[in-house]
Amino acid sequence: MTTATIAPPKITDKKMLIDGCWIDSASGKTFETINPATGDTICHVAEADKSDVDMAVAAARRAFDSGPWSKMNPADRGRLLYKLADAIEADADNLAALETLDNGKPIRDSKAVDVPLTIACYRYYAGWADKIHGKVLPISGDFHAYTRHEPVGVVGQIIPWNFPLLMQSWKWGPALAAGCTVVLKPAEQTPLTALRVAELAMEVGFPEGVVNVVPGFGPSAGGAIAAHPDVDKVAFTGSTEVGKLIMKAAAETNLKRVTLELGGKSPNIIFADADVEKAAQFAHFALFFNMGQCCCAGSRLYVEERIHDEALDHITRLAEKARVGDPLDPETTQGPQVSEEQYNTILGYIDAGKKGGATCVTGGGKIDRPGYFVQPTVFDDVQDDMKIAREEIFGPVLSVLKFRDVDEVIRRANDTMYGLAAAVWTKDITKANLLARRLRAGTVWINCYNVFDATVPFGGFKMSGLGRELGEYALSNYTEVKSVVTALGA
Ligand code: NAI
Ligand code: MG
Repeated sequence: MTTATIAPPKITDKKMLIDGCWIDSASGKTFETINPATGDTICHVAEADKSDVDMAVAAARRAFDSGPWSKMNPADRGRLLYKLADAIEADADNLAALETLDNGKPIRDSKAVDVPLTIACYRYYAGWADKIHGKVLPISGDFHAYTRHEPVGVVGQIIPWNFPLLMQSWKWGPALAAGCTVVLKPAEQTPLTALRVAELAMEVGFPEGVVNVVPGFGPSAGGAIAAHPDVDKVAFTGSTEVGKLIMKAAAETNLKRVTLELGGKSPNIIFADADVEKAAQFAHFALFFNMGQCCCAGSRLYVEERIHDEALDHITRLAEKARVGDPLDPETTQGPQVSEEQYNTILGYIDAGKKGGATCVTGGGKIDRPGYFVQPTVFDDVQDDMKIAREEIFGPVLSVLKFRDVDEVIRRANDTMYGLAAAVWTKDITKANLLARRLRAGTVWINCYNVFDATVPFGGFKMSGLGRELGEYALSNYTEVKSVVTALGA
């Protein structure tokens, strides 16, 4: 097999999708999307603001209230989702290259992770479309009572740049299966794959207005979605700071339903009785995957004191072995950070780690080449109260902390405003289950990390979010329960 660097796809300027039409923004404004591996402009993209969002919401409203979507059989909605999954599969190489170009993630990951998980997510929800139903209830008295699970209506979806294709599928899959219509705003850093999937959706026959894509910036396009009185529900993935703004805007307008998938500072705990080498390999993967740009990154690595030196040794070696470079090269394991802004934030955290008294074991700076490349960095001797142990860095920077016993590590692991994920490495099943029960996080991985599947719900405790994505649980984000009671007696 050849492993030659793939040629970047040719890209033309992009319009937005509203009511089945590809159009320029009402203002005529565009923005540049940047290749983070070089800092060069890839293309210009139509920039939506409030007036474009208004048009998109009106189109979604029509499609929901009176268009063909409102009359379509659930099984036919499911067929459209299957067709979309097939179209994505047929376009897999192109989509993977586009994702890598726009986001900077290694092509090997776009191909092996992002695209296949996206396809699986659409297929999973395609299967749900005609299996969403209520119950007949054992009501007292001479009545017949049942529930209907009806689509919530027009949904606004605001997604981030770290997994653009996959986040779109986590949002579109359950919303479309449930019978909602959608206005999606991709992140301004990575609009290209969302637009390509929207093109495929139109090709496979989604009716006009069912999916609308409005690329643009957070406060303008995103803010207009969150504050729109005709949007029935908003789903957001991104920073905790913006999550609060979304909730506030929803509260101040129409109490639109809100689900949020936000930041994390997830503890990854290795006990001395674990397979230390394997645990270290996964500790590397838990943090460095996707350049550390994962909401569930295992960014606080708690290692039992007795095995600290052995684990640190493995972890340092793995960080030093990372192949940092052109993300279109199949050998590359670490590409650039997504943007200059993220790159500068991360370098600021590395500085704070050094100044705060942690020991920088490897890495610790930028890489001297065009693009936004950061050295894989490991800090040892990290204390719980240091900035690098408390705040989400979202970069290739791992903090190693030592612990002595079970109660101590549970208390320290839970001492955070976040609660997205956690992991435990041990061969002792009792200890593993005790921790699984006591860790305050939406996902607990035991002897594994970053295992995602469309069937398994994902979301946060505490300030990591509200509601759950994926699995059957996500359907409730996009449905309203209606109770119907009929009198049977005269
Ligand atoms: P962000 O929260 O600002 O951006 C995420 C999405 O929200 C983007 O589509 C953006 O355009 C939109 N947005 C921004 N401001 C908005 C507003 N006022 N109203 C409505 N939508 C708005 O995140 P950003 O600035 O890209 O990254 C900052 C930090 O957030 C990262 O360093 C990381 O810690 C965290 N983050 C977490 C993610 C996750 O998967 N949970 C994903 C991306 C960022
Ligand atoms: Mg922001």
